[in-house]
Amino acid sequence: MATRTQSRSSNRSSSTRNSNSNSTRGNASRSGGSESRSAFSWSEGAGPVIAAALGGAAIGFAANYGRKALMQGLEATAGDWDEVLATEHDLALAVFDKMLATDQTQTFKRKMLLMKLTHALDKHAHQEEMVVYPALREANEAVSADQLEGEHGYIKTFIYELNEMGADSPTWLEKVREFRDLVSRHAHMEEEEVFPRFKEALNEEQNAHITSLVHRDGFWMA
Ligand SMILES: [Fe+2]
Ligand SMILES: [Fe+2]
Repeated sequence: MATRTQSRSSNRSSSTRNSNSNSTRGNASRSGGSESRSAFSWSEGAGPVIAAALGGAAIGFAANYGRKALMQGLEATAGDWDEVLATEHDLALAVFDKMLATDQTQTFKRKMLLMKLTHALDKHAHQEEMVVYPALREANEAVSADQLEGEHGYIKTFIYELNEMGADSPTWLEKVREFRDLVSRHAHMEEEEVFPRFKEALNEEQNAHITSLVHRDGFWMA
């Protein structure tokens, strides 16, 4: 069957973004005579420590910002908001497939995959719940938005249950299979029904606006 997955454009263009890696460091220059130095003698020892701490925080911030910028750069190549979200559906379903290929002895791998899935679904749900579903409600699609948001609740319930049951549970795979079915049905409803109908009603400017909001939300959640 010719689905959106096959027909989706896979154009990738390189996108370079400037990551603001300026780090703020303490100004090491000192002024004043020996009196001021002795009056604030604590700073002789503490100054470099504080400067180093500030420098470390700035480097940590810059590294995280750079990672986010990279994530955003990757996402920015994925196209319109609905294509970004559809790509994320595919990535989540691929994680499910890896989970289903594990056996009961691979508990570490199962836990890692569940963590990865949880993070991916969390970021994805945030983009939809903070941008797309509110926009759907504004466009007279409240019934669909409410149904989809309700299903996100059950997605969280599956994550909770999998964490509770433990990765070596004999029913782990069965639970993952049920979970995958829900996500697959949910993604299908979004990709094949709700999102195309909504997109059809948007003009170019509105569509670009939703795309930029989804990218921005995804950036902070990355
Ligand atoms: Fe959703
Ligand atoms: Fe979705």
